Amino acid sequence: MRVAVYPGSFDPLTNGHLDIIRRGTLLFDRLLVAVLENEGKSPLFTVAERMELITRCTHDLPAVEVHSFSGLLVDFMQRVDASVVVRGIRAVSDYEYELQMALMNRELHPGVETIFMLPAVEYTYVSSRLVKEVFRLGGDVARLVPPLVLDSLKARLPVTAGC
Ligand code: PNS
Repeated sequence: MRVAVYPGSFDPLTNGHLDIIRRGTLLFDRLLVAVLENEGKSPLFTVAERMELITRCTHDLPAVEVHSFSGLLVDFMQRVDASVVVRGIRAVSDYEYELQMALMNRELHPGVETIFMLPAVEYTYVSSRLVKEVFRLGGDVARLVPPLVLDSLKARLPVTAGC
């Protein structure tokens, strides 16, 4: 059984995340999407809301399980008996941060391996942070997030019109 964990904030899930999840299910028998419980980041959606959005958007992918975790990722990995972390890399600028995390996780737990996956080219500039900012300012993000996420953004965020 090949098991991997795809950790992140997912606030909210984007089409870039979904693309990595789909690609991950081609490589692993079980892909555990793990939502970080990190109140420090003042998220737009609660962990439960983020988990529900991911669950509903991946209903056609039986290999996907949605979890949440707090504390160290490597401790969560041990609890679920997984040794592979999947992370998406969009551009060279992501690499430094991802390299640090991967090596820190290896330092903390030498059995943990990180694999980096590339999203489809059309999502290489998409991030949850930019999606929220653009949506808030009235921009069209319909191509960048799943329809369910778009609905949730509409219900949650007031759009601020420019002058
Ligand atoms: O989507 P994000 O915010 O880039 O995901 C970052 C995440 C959740 C993968 C990372 O912050 C994380 O693993 N946090 C858990 C705490 C931890 O294990 N820190 C040490 C490893 S660098």
